[in-house]
Order: sequence, then C-alpha cells, then structure tokens
Amino acid sequence: MKDYLTTVKSNEEINDGILKLTLESKEPFDLGSFRGGQFAHLEVPDGASLLRRPFGIYEITEHTVTFLIAKKGAGTDSLFKAKIGTELKVILSLGNGFKLEESDKRVVLLGAGMGAAPLYPVMSTYPNKEYFTFLGFRDKTKVMCVEDFSTKSKTVVCTDDGSYGNKGFPTDYLKAGLDEIKPDVILICGPHPFMKIAQRIAIDNGIKAYLSTEQRMGCGIGACLVCSCKTVKNGEEHMSRVCADGPVFDVKEIVL
Ligand SMILES: Cc1cc2nc3c(=O)[nH]c(=O)nc-3n(C[C@H](O)[C@H](O)[C@H](O)COP(=O)(O)OP(=O)(O)OC[C@H]3O[C@@H](n4cnc5c(N)ncnc54)[C@H](O)[C@@H]3O)c2cc1C
Ligand code: FES
Repeated sequence: MKDYLTTVKSNEEINDGILKLTLESKEPFDLGSFRGGQFAHLEVPDGASLLRRPFGIYEITEHTVTFLIAKKGAGTDSLFKAKIGTELKVILSLGNGFKLEESDKRVVLLGAGMGAAPLYPVMSTYPNKEYFTFLGFRDKTKVMCVEDFSTKSKTVVCTDDGSYGNKGFPTDYLKAGLDEIKPDVILICGPHPFMKIAQRIAIDNGIKAYLSTEQRMGCGIGACLVCSCKTVKNGEEHMSRVCADGPVFDVKEIVL
C-alpha cells in the first residue's frame, strides 16, 4: 500500500452516468501483491471534499490504473469533470481481494451494476481458471464491460427490463445453470439486496462463495472504524472493518 501522485490520462463517460477514469503514475505501481477485488482510495479534485473516495480497481498496469465510477454526489461529480492532466493522489492497493485456491477450477463471477468492476481483474490475477460470468443491469443504458468479460469468460448478460441481453436477474440465470456449471466457487459484488439473494443461493447449494461489500469510509486504512460491518465467526458476532478486514468476506461470515 502506498500513496502515489498520478495525473488523469483519460476520462471517458462510457454510458449513462458511468465514467471510465484512467490515471497515470510516473512511479511504477507495486503490482506484486495486487489481487482482483482490492480497491484504491482516491483524492477528489477541486476541493470537493477533504475525504478520499474508495473505488474498486478495474485494471492496473505498471504505470496506469483504471476505475469505473458511477455519479453519486459531489466527489464523483468532480471526477467526471476532471480534465486530462489533473493531479490526483491515490492510495493503492487496499483491502483483501478475492482469493482463489488451487482447487478452485470453475469460477462463477456474479455481478450487478457497478459490482461488475471489482470482479473483472480477478481473471487477470488468476488466469488459469475456467470463468462463467453472470452480469445484471437495470436497463440497456447501464450495461458495461460486456466485451471485456466476454473475451475471458462465458458471459450471460441480463437487464431488468430485457432491453439488452436476457430479461431478468443474473441470480435467476445462475440458479438455472448451477447443475451444468458445477462451480467450485462463486464471487459476488453488487447492491445489497442482490448480494443477499446471491449469498442465499451459495449457502443453500453448499457452494463456497465470497462477496465484496461496501460501506462509507473515512481513513480507508483500518484506523477510524467508520466502515464497520457485522461478521460471524465460530458462532460469535464481531465488528469487522470493510477497508482492512474486507471488502471481500466469506458469505458464511458476513451479516448483510
Ligand atoms: C470498497 C469500495 C469499493 C467501491 N468501488 C466502487 C467502484 O468501483 N465504482 C463506483 O462507482 N463506486 C464504488 N464504490 C462506492 C463509491 O465509493 C461511492 O459511490 C463514492 O464514494 C460516493 O462519493 P460522492 O462524493 O460522489 O458521494 P457522496 O456525496 O459522499 O454520497 C452520495 C451518495 O452516494 C452513496 N454512497 C456514498 N458512499 C458510498 C459507499 N461507500 N458505498 C455505497 N454508496 C455510497 C450514498 O447513497 C450517498 O447518499 C466503492 C465503495 C467501496 C467502499
Ligand atoms: S475507513 Fe477507517 S477503519 Fe475503515
């Protein structure tokens, strides 16, 4: 983990309210320990806030890092407006990413909305696995990353209203495909209600699974406890820090 000084290399709105932001660093990023599912804590421009904002790392190379960012409030709005060359500090790589074992050969990536972003780099971290991706979006204006996922995995895309791909929810398509796919592990990221359903599917079918959760953050490095969430280990409840103990948790240990 390190604080890097970067500049905005490209800043493209890829669809309705979603920004693909690439930052460039002269100092090489430490890629040695990077794992898909880790995040960065990013300064926001123009004094929009003193607090940094957390974003999952979508792609990272020795000198560039890319994020997919949904417009929410003042912080993300200022990132949409950042000009090429704007200087931004970024701490990375933070948190625990998705960890796959040697025995995890068939891997399902299950994402909804912006939840697709932190799942994508898992395929680069662990290239020698067979991937099956299920992605869901509200409608065709929100669809993203399909080409990227399709080149590396068998990919099913759905929208709530059927305006792109299949109609319905990715959890339903996964459920229908479980017997055929026989996944060793399911990796999940998306909005809270979606993750609750995904968690239930994994537990009910006895499949190992991990999900990446979100909380509002302060320090991003484990010191302030702003990001606490409830977890259960050996039958006992604990408070865990999403930034340092997560954001990836075992579905059997996180209370959603
Ligand atoms: C580990 C982690 C990874 C994330 N990865 C991504 C990502 O890859 N792409 C992306 O677009 N967003 C991601 N987020 C969410 C992102 O950090 C927030 O959307 C952003 O901080 C909002 O900042 P803002 O100043 O625009 O909004 P604010 O003005 O701070 O808040 C506006 C609204 O945004 C929502 N919000 C704020 N913070 C969060 C949060 N931490 N989680 C969920 N909702 C929030 C709230 O509903 C709030 O009302 C991630 C969050 C975490 C914790
Ligand atoms: S954000 Fe400070 S402990 Fe997690």
